[in-house]
Amino acid sequence: MAGEVRRRVAVFDDEEELSLAAAGLFALQARRATVSRGRCDVLLSGGETPRRCYLMLGAEPLVSSIPWGALHLFWGDERHVPHDDPRSNYGMALRTLLRRAPLGEAQVHPVPCAGTVQGDALAYEQELRNHFAPGPAAFDLCFLGLGEDGHTASLFPGTPALRERERWVCEVQVPSQRFDRITLTAPVLNASSVIVFLVTGGAKAPAVKEVLEGERDPQRVPAQLIEPTQGRVVWLLDRDAARLLSQTTR
Ligand code: 6PG
Repeated sequence: MAGEVRRRVAVFDDEEELSLAAAGLFALQARRATVSRGRCDVLLSGGETPRRCYLMLGAEPLVSSIPWGALHLFWGDERHVPHDDPRSNYGMALRTLLRRAPLGEAQVHPVPCAGTVQGDALAYEQELRNHFAPGPAAFDLCFLGLGEDGHTASLFPGTPALRERERWVCEVQVPSQRFDRITLTAPVLNASSVIVFLVTGGAKAPAVKEVLEGERDPQRVPAQLIEPTQGRVVWLLDRDAARLLSQTTR
C-alpha cells in the first residue's frame, strides 16, 4: 500500500538460527541483484551481533554460493579508530569474512579512519557518490543492528545526524561514546532495497518493543527512522529480543 512500510518480523530460537537466516538472506539478495543488474552493493553493520553470520558467509556451503565478483561491500557506520583496533567494524569483518571470501581490494570500501573524523566522513561520502554516480545511493542490501538505547548504525538519540537530509555521511561525537563515529544518514540507509535488522538478547527487548510498537519518536528512538522509500525491512530477532512484542507484531 502507498506509504506503508513493508516490514516482516521473524523470531528464531537462538543466535545460531538467526545468523543462518541472515546469511541466507545475504546470499539470496546477492544472487538476485547480480542477476538483475550485474552488481550487488551491500552495507555491512558492526558491533558483535553479525559476527556469526559473517563467519557463515565465509565458509561452506554459503561461500561458494555467493557471486562475490559482483559484490561491493561498504559499512553503514564505523567507530573512528584504526582498522586494526579490536573495536573497528571493518576489522571485525576482515577477521570473520573478508579474509575468507574471494573479494578484490576494489570491492571492499572501509570507512577511512586515519584522518580527522570530519575529513574521513567527507571522504567516505565522496567515495559513495563516486560509486553510485551519476545516480543516488541505492544499496541492494543493508544490515543493521540495534542498540539498547534504540540507536542503529551510529544514529544515536538526540544527535544532529538524525536530522540530516542532505549529507550521505556524518561524523558523530556522542559524550556517552568512548570514541567518535562515522555514520551513513537515514535517507541513504532508507534508499536500500532490503534492510535487515539483526537483534539478539533480552537486553535489547525493550528497545525492540519501543521501535516496533512504541510511540513514534525518532529523535528518542532513532531506529524508527528506518523506513525504506521503495524497499522492505526484515527484523531478525531471537526469542529473548522478541519477548516483549505483542503477538500481532511477530
Ligand atoms: C556499532 C554498530 C551499532 C551496533 C549496535 C548493536 O558500530 O556499534 O554499528 O549500530 O549495530 O550497537 O551492537 P551489538 O551487535 O554489539 O549489540
